[in-house]
Amino acid sequence: MLRMRDVTRTYDDGRPVYALRSTALHIAVGDYVSITGPSGSGKSTLLNLFGLLDVPSTGSYEVGGAETVGCGQAIRSAIRGQVFGFVFQAFHLLPGRTALENVEIGSLYGPHSRRKRRKLATEALERMGLGHRMLADPRQLSGGERQRVAIARAVTAQPQVLFCDEPTGNLDSENTAAVMTLLRELNADGLTLVVVTHDPVVAEEAGRRLRVTDGVVSEA
Ligand SMILES: Nc1ncnc2c1ncn2[C@@H]1O[C@H](COP(=O)(O)OP(=O)(O)O)[C@@H](O)[C@H]1O
Ligand SMILES: [Mg+2]
Repeated sequence: MLRMRDVTRTYDDGRPVYALRSTALHIAVGDYVSITGPSGSGKSTLLNLFGLLDVPSTGSYEVGGAETVGCGQAIRSAIRGQVFGFVFQAFHLLPGRTALENVEIGSLYGPHSRRKRRKLATEALERMGLGHRMLADPRQLSGGERQRVAIARAVTAQPQVLFCDEPTGNLDSENTAAVMTLLRELNADGLTLVVVTHDPVVAEEAGRRLRVTDGVVSEA
């Protein structure tokens, strides 16, 4: 599904910063991969490269067998919109819109009619156990509920791969457990998951664990 070969990412801040050193990684369909490591080790850099939110400084990155390095912004956006979904630590929900409207945004750039999008969003929220909170403003929701809305928004476009950067970073242990259960179920249904976390309990949940130290990735 996803294959990196000799990928590096350096930043030039007067002197070069090696955010990711030469990396070869393959993620198969249906994998559940966690990425851990100290702050500043390169976890978000790796996730952003996988998610086509960033471009490698060198190397090759294939999605579904197609090379993405050197291809244009339009193709990269199309893959991001059609194949990938994203969940971040800060939920990035729009205040002043209902939970349902927030989830509908997830399929805005897809092929579906307005009615179909509403149906998909309703189903996604019900699946996240939020059928009774669909008309709530995100400001009225708990952190755990907000993150479940954000996950519903990410999966409503029916991505093949879901990337999560510290999805439980703002949650207490009870809400963390609820989000972990949802991720496990989504993976059981065939969704490929790549989850950055500093929480060892969340990392343990994944079938495959990667560790990043000073920009070097290893299987944990
Ligand atoms: N836009 C940037 N410009 C310069 N350096 C950056 C930038 N983004 C990240 N870095 C550096 O790259 C390294 C890895 O960062 P990051 O991937 O965000 O780490 P993590 O997510 O593990 O905390 C750090 O040394 C960080 O300072
Ligand atoms: Mg990070």
